[in-house]
Amino acid sequence: MKVDKAIIEQAPEKASELRASQVYKENLEFWHQAWNMCTKPYTKMPDLEYLPWIPDTLRTKNIHKVLDLGCGSGWLSVLLAREGFQVTGIDVADHALDLGNQWATMEDLKIKFDVGDLGDLPYEDNTFDAVVANSIIEHLPLSLALVAMTKLKSIIVSGGTFIGCFDKVGTGPGEYFKLEDGTQVYTDKSRKGMMLRYFPDEELKEILGGWKIDEFKTLDSGTRFVVAHT
Ligand SMILES: C[S@@+](CC[C@H](N)C(=O)[O-])C[C@H]1O[C@@H](n2cnc3c(N)ncnc32)[C@H](O)[C@@H]1O
Repeated sequence: MKVDKAIIEQAPEKASELRASQVYKENLEFWHQAWNMCTKPYTKMPDLEYLPWIPDTLRTKNIHKVLDLGCGSGWLSVLLAREGFQVTGIDVADHALDLGNQWATMEDLKIKFDVGDLGDLPYEDNTFDAVVANSIIEHLPLSLALVAMTKLKSIIVSGGTFIGCFDKVGTGPGEYFKLEDGTQVYTDKSRKGMMLRYFPDEELKEILGGWKIDEFKTLDSGTRFVVAHT
């Protein structure tokens, strides 16, 4: 859908209505339950073509402090901490962060893990040099994605970097209903409550409207690897 001026202006109000809704509570509950099923940290790095590009890009931009958005149990936080970046990971699921802390302890890495909702990021202005967002924005309805992207611009320093990996989602089997912005809310047993929204290229460029896009690469899998700065 066209992300016009009216949609952008209405996003904060829509996002706060959404965050107060039952459907959103069930979405967060899905993530808590999914993570609560993991009893110990899964300490393998995923096999992703673009994975080495993330630290490489951060290094070329002389980045030190990085926020890992929707970090889950922290593989990307761990990867970046191993490379010497000062990393904070944030996720809504406290148990995922416990697992991340256990992994960091095993490797003697210092990573700060914060519990929080991406719709209400708890950071002061200019806290980070960069933000990485892997497979997370597509779990946010449009209004929340717009609110989060706007907030990110203030919590990173001027000229700071955003690296996002946006998957091609929502085309597989599953039962769901749709919110007015096209977000799929799953109703089948294994994913009950989970929200998923495909952001087409044009929309991604629109939600990154206030950012300068350095790189926009589409991989064979359909994942878009995007680097931008303020
Ligand atoms: C698909 S997983 C991706 C995790 C990790 N970034 C990765 O690449 O493996 C999505 C993560 O986002 C978290 N999450 C979903 N909605 C969130 C929200 N509104 N605020 C914070 N975290 C959220 C979930 O708990 C989950 O860990």
